[in-house]
Amino acid sequence: MASTHGAQVLVASNRGPVSYQQGEDGSLHAKRGGGGLVSGLSAIGPDTDAVWVCAALGDGDRAAVRRAEGGLLPAGETGGQRVRMLDIDAAVHADAYNGIANSVLWFVHHMLYQTPLEPVFDAEFRRQWAAYEAYNRAFAEALAQEAAEGAAVLIQDYHLALAPRMLRRLRPDLRIGHFSHTPWAPPEYFRLLPDDIAAELLSGILGADRAAFLTQRWADAFRDCCHAVLGPGIPAGTRLGVHGLGADADFLRERSHRADVAERMAALREEIGEGRKVVVRVDRTELSKNIVRGLLAYRQLLEDRPEWRERVVHVAFAYPSRQDLAVYRKYTEEVQRVAEEINAHYGTPGWTPVVLHVKDDFARSLAAYRLADVALVNPIRDGMNLVAKEIPVVSDEGCALVLSREAGAYEELGEDAIVVNPYDITGTADALHTALTLPPAERAERSKRLASAATALPPAQWFLDQLHALDDRTS
Ligand code: F6P
Repeated sequence: MASTHGAQVLVASNRGPVSYQQGEDGSLHAKRGGGGLVSGLSAIGPDTDAVWVCAALGDGDRAAVRRAEGGLLPAGETGGQRVRMLDIDAAVHADAYNGIANSVLWFVHHMLYQTPLEPVFDAEFRRQWAAYEAYNRAFAEALAQEAAEGAAVLIQDYHLALAPRMLRRLRPDLRIGHFSHTPWAPPEYFRLLPDDIAAELLSGILGADRAAFLTQRWADAFRDCCHAVLGPGIPAGTRLGVHGLGADADFLRERSHRADVAERMAALREEIGEGRKVVVRVDRTELSKNIVRGLLAYRQLLEDRPEWRERVVHVAFAYPSRQDLAVYRKYTEEVQRVAEEINAHYGTPGWTPVVLHVKDDFARSLAAYRLADVALVNPIRDGMNLVAKEIPVVSDEGCALVLSREAGAYEELGEDAIVVNPYDITGTADALHTALTLPPAERAERSKRLASAATALPPAQWFLDQLHALDDRTS
């Protein structure tokens, strides 16, 4: 499945399918990565000749690169995939990843700037931009070296917006796709960026034969930005496409019925208490996920509708993310503070209103999915949000979904979800009440339809569709 017309396939992304921790004795421990991009691309599957090119993200990864024979990581550690990690200078990577990708591009596409002093495009920004260019060049050069004549190269996400054009210049024979896993900002917001930077980002992606997005909304925004910044018309040669990554039903159903998940369900039931309704959310602790407003909405539900006290528990898993950045560390603290405050104010000896866990544990996430009566997914903006798709697939009794209209998943799930404006805390509290009081038959019906829409394009098909579309000049 990894080749089109027998040609070689390469995938490029910042984060790869595996990361390494180094023990005190120098031993290396491989851990499978998470997140939408990694889940989707893992469909490349083992035992193919596709090569996944990614960046070394820490000291453990760098040690693994030094140890790798012929540049490829041991298949036993990558789940069978052929993975080449690039050892890009740590300072360059930090400026490109933390400085530009996560502090600027992520903020632009998710429209996260909040104070009158942000953003700051000064000399420091220009210095980091040079690192972002160097980081993209390192990928383009590695891909140019690795690719066989006529290979298909699928470049992923906002970290690598410049790489398609750079690679095109080095290797005009390649077929190049770019895929954005984030939303794309509308022109009014995208044009916060300095004009030359905005133009470089768009031209970088337009270096691909095909630029693809998770929803039509983000593809339209990209086209609008091209018109606003570069002038009318997407240059001939680049096509736009949409592939709405879905949940992997077979994997999730099998995985969520293993013993480790059952164990965690028992422990969670203990924490929740008998006979209570369960509102579940699972996120990376990420500003765009809007966790604090979600907690405040739950608080308002308890305040305005005291009949829910003692009868509901909010299971909130908020897994730390991008902790090198102060703004993320502060947000993580705020999530914990608000959860504690709710528990201190409303909790009783036999009832903890918010069960918050911050240690990443996939089996426990699946346990929470199975127990969910209501799933709360209220991002400010989100490329897709796979959690919204996964919970209805896994929940034992079928769940109601409270869903932000700003999540990419809204396009496919909006009809059967209870839809919220993510900024509206009162509206979200009301939506939680509606979700908790849905008649059981209606809830089950909706959940079934949500699960079916959520799995319409499983990861393996999502990946194959991109490859085929790259060949098919009409799509
Ligand atoms: O595009 C978004 C994305 O790449 C997701 O697929 C993933 O969940 C997240 O960002 C991972 O971010 P990071 O690699 O910075 O942890």
